[in-house]
Amino acid sequence: MLEEKPRPTDRLRRLRQSEQIRALVRETALDPGRFVSPVFVTEGSGIIEPIESMPGVNRYAVDRLTNYVARLRDAGVNSVLLFGITGSKDEVGSQAYSPVGTIPRAVAEIKRRFPDEVVMADVCLCEYTNHGHCGVLREGSVDNDRTLPLLARAAVEYAKAGADVVAPSAMMDGQVAAIRAALDSEGLGDTVIMGYSAKYASSFYGPFREAAGSAPSSGDRRAYQMDPPNSREAMRELSSDAEEGADILMVKPALAYLDVLAKARSRFDLPIAAYNVSGEFAMLKAAATRGWLDEKRATLEILTSIKRAGADIIITYSAEQASNWLAE
Ligand code: PBG
Repeated sequence: MLEEKPRPTDRLRRLRQSEQIRALVRETALDPGRFVSPVFVTEGSGIIEPIESMPGVNRYAVDRLTNYVARLRDAGVNSVLLFGITGSKDEVGSQAYSPVGTIPRAVAEIKRRFPDEVVMADVCLCEYTNHGHCGVLREGSVDNDRTLPLLARAAVEYAKAGADVVAPSAMMDGQVAAIRAALDSEGLGDTVIMGYSAKYASSFYGPFREAAGSAPSSGDRRAYQMDPPNSREAMRELSSDAEEGADILMVKPALAYLDVLAKARSRFDLPIAAYNVSGEFAMLKAAATRGWLDEKRATLEILTSIKRAGADIIITYSAEQASNWLAE
């Protein structure tokens, strides 16, 4: 006779028996109130322009923006992160800090219609320079210290227009301190800074650069954005942003850097944002349109993984759709 096999004492399946029991013990829940939708704002009027590599994402002229913001709000998403697109680029990215540029106008328009909307503005020069780099050039490389006052001017203009949050993404050393000092000296002490603290030189920004027309015309961003293999260095970036006065820290991209996110969560008590970037969105869309992935389940699974790894705030192009799915 066969000896009876020992029976497992841990019956983990007990808590998976029904959706109701699973819901009761679920450890992570997504909340549309924690989503931020990136929005591309273009010059001109009457424009809603689809972005080919990001199905469902458009560029909006300022006069078409608030209808989209209204739709996001209906879905429960009350925060947007604005990116400006301009046809008038120059060496020093003047349109980034023009008081009448696209972003100050967009911020003011959104705030006029929805005073309680959380309006965040990306602060960088790459969408505004004719060479596509995130700062001003000297002898072919990006000059960190000459870029700082320009980023600070841009942040001040966006804050004056009513932005609640400014988000420096240029990866210049000292950018948070420069912006904090400039905001405070202009009486804009309440403006929040969300640092793109650990931002990697990632291949996943491709579709964004198409959307914003911000690909560098020569070279790449590896001399200022982080080297993907490094995670201890990310902790140094996060610490320096925290010390310089950032209110929120960010890890970007999200999906290929969940380990960095988890480590950041365990080390810092500041709110942590994760940016589920354009390429992460595009690859999912591409597979879903071919029927290779269930788009709804895959999107929610990815967003849940970002939350589970430790993100308080998730910046995602899926914000509206995911929120609607969560409400189904
Ligand atoms: C600007 C900026 C970029 C992104 C956010 N801010 C592009 C880049 O650094 O090249 C990427 C966002 C995305 O891919 O969704 N510096």
